[in-house]
Amino acid sequence: NWRMDTFAEEAVKGIKEKVAGGRALCALSGGVDSSVAAVMMSRAIGTRLTCVFVDHGLLRKNEADEVESVFGPNGPYKLNFIRIDAKQRFYNKLKGVTDPEKKRKIIGEEFIHVFEEEAKKIGEVDFLVQGTIYPDVVESGFGGESAVIKSHHNVGGLPEHVDFKEIIEPLRDLFKDEVRKVGLELGIPENLVFRQPFPGPGLGIRIIGEVTPEKVDILQNADAIYREEIEKAGLSRKIGQYFAALTNMKSVGVMGDERTYDYAVALRAVNTIDFMTAEAAEIPWEVLCRITSRIINEVNQVNRVVYDLTGKPPGTIELE
Ligand code: XMP
Repeated sequence: NWRMDTFAEEAVKGIKEKVAGGRALCALSGGVDSSVAAVMMSRAIGTRLTCVFVDHGLLRKNEADEVESVFGPNGPYKLNFIRIDAKQRFYNKLKGVTDPEKKRKIIGEEFIHVFEEEAKKIGEVDFLVQGTIYPDVVESGFGGESAVIKSHHNVGGLPEHVDFKEIIEPLRDLFKDEVRKVGLELGIPENLVFRQPFPGPGLGIRIIGEVTPEKVDILQNADAIYREEIEKAGLSRKIGQYFAALTNMKSVGVMGDERTYDYAVALRAVNTIDFMTAEAAEIPWEVLCRITSRIINEVNQVNRVVYDLTGKPPGTIELE
């Protein structure tokens, strides 16, 4: 078990020695792992680190702006921060695609393309930084924010089309709770340090069936209400992971005197120790009712809200 106060200090020292005068590139997602890795790296090598944040158009509501406000030019870290608006590229690629695995593959590959293009523009970067943490190393499964890169890159070690000498993984000996402690020590805001796991493919795997900008918008709004109400109820840190998903089902309803025919939103909330198994979380009835009525009243094209009670197994946590 690491002592976290000395861990960050020693890791920064180690990175300094390793990178020497070189330059490093980091894919920053705004998740706790890549954020902590980026801040540690910048402590060590300053602006010789470039952080690339790809907005793939499948982020949660306001998320891209929030990430930029922390890590961008007006934030406290003075990072070399590049935000790429790649929304349209991803939407174009996802047009007409309904198969979950295909969607995942497209999103993962497009992400790599965007990232590699940026790496080439920057040029002569020796090191690639990844926010891999210990559980990722062990099972190389999912659960880390860096997993999109990982599942496509880690097999052979390095991205295929960009010349990095080496990968730096400053968190590879740490468990999640240890990463969080380091994050707090580095002064990263609590809402970011305790952020829920958010999968690399983002809302793309929470929209069942074809992903369109319109559906992303619907889901972002429903999910924002869900998260706001869970936070207000003081439950946000008591539930392992919770999010809204947009089902591909439309059904009939009535709004005022009008018949409606709109989407159903599914609320998912699970408690889990390791994300390999999970059970549905108990949310107080009145909280569920409030969320439901707000979503239906405030989000266009949604006329039904359901609560997903499925455990894992047999369900997975994400819906695709
Ligand atoms: P499942 O749906 O497999 O999810 O039960 C288990 C945990 O992993 C997250 N997850 C992902 N994380 N890239 C990621 O970085 C992915 O492709 C991915 N798929 C699932 C999911 O949010 C949950 O925490």
